[in-house]
Amino acid sequence: MSNAQDSSASANKPAWGENVVVDFEDGIAWVTLNRPTRRNAINPGIVWEMNAIMDALEEDDRCKVMVVTGAGESFSAGMDLKEYFRATDKVPPIQRERLFRANAAWQWRRMMHYPKPTISMVNGWCFGGAFQFLVGSDLAIASEDAVFGLSEINWGIIPAGIVTKAVLEVMSFRDAMYYIMTGETFTGKQAAEFKLVNKAVPAAQLKDATRELAKTLMAKNPFVLRQAKTACRFTRDLTWDQAAEYLMAKSDQTELRDPENGRNVGMSQFLDKKSFRPGLEAYDRG
Ligand code: COA
Repeated sequence: MSNAQDSSASANKPAWGENVVVDFEDGIAWVTLNRPTRRNAINPGIVWEMNAIMDALEEDDRCKVMVVTGAGESFSAGMDLKEYFRATDKVPPIQRERLFRANAAWQWRRMMHYPKPTISMVNGWCFGGAFQFLVGSDLAIASEDAVFGLSEINWGIIPAGIVTKAVLEVMSFRDAMYYIMTGETFTGKQAAEFKLVNKAVPAAQLKDATRELAKTLMAKNPFVLRQAKTACRFTRDLTWDQAAEYLMAKSDQTELRDPENGRNVGMSQFLDKKSFRPGLEAYDRG
């Protein structure tokens, strides 16, 4: 997508395109971190552009599923040690905090509750801060030979931001401890075994596999999909009784607000028309 697309951009400066590019393809917004010479390390430019992109895609009908990936041989080498850390060491704390807040916003606060489905497509190096949006996204697919690492221990810091918490959200305690403490790298194949990503495929199949997954999601009722993923995020930390109460309320809300009236359409297609089997596919959305 060209830079001219964004009406929200300030006077002469496009809201994105310098550090991140967006391409639309049949309902998929491919959002590519585009600093390959810096291995797509997250600099302030990426932070501001990703926030603008997420604002825009929320309302853009060309985006039904958002895929985040990296240009070249890297998904993301984590936070940019020069531009994000060293360069901000001496700026007024209020400015630094604003930047850090904006980074947390796109990488996990907004990502985790994004109204549209999100997929991380891990095409190569994935370090440190990149784990935040990797875990923040709903689903993740990696190239088998992608290389992951919690490298913080190797350069004298702890995995902060929210990295430690994010890793513990999906990996086992033992695996998280091991890789946080040793800084050893692991492959995409191992990442799938650790459940850090949903699956790993050979590099040559990565884009097709991601596209297939996006298509599967796009066949579903988008409002119900949003409700389902929101329920997943929130139910996790509730007791069983609280979860039952919350899910009942969420379910009622879904039925009341679903513009497609999916529950009744699906039920009728199965019970009356006998035109599909919900165990095997999504109802026909017409
Ligand atoms: N921050 C700032 N610059 C980075 C960076 C980062 N996280 N990761 C890579 N770069 C820069 C390098 O400094 C280098 O710049 P230069 O061309 O001016 O020398 C350039 O990107 C290419 O990196 P290089 O190390 O030469 O590439 P590589 O392919 O040999 O190795 C990595 C790739 C990812 C293994 C290696 O760059 C690396 O270890 N990066 C740091 C990863 C990390 O610890 N991230 C955690 C941050 S929270």
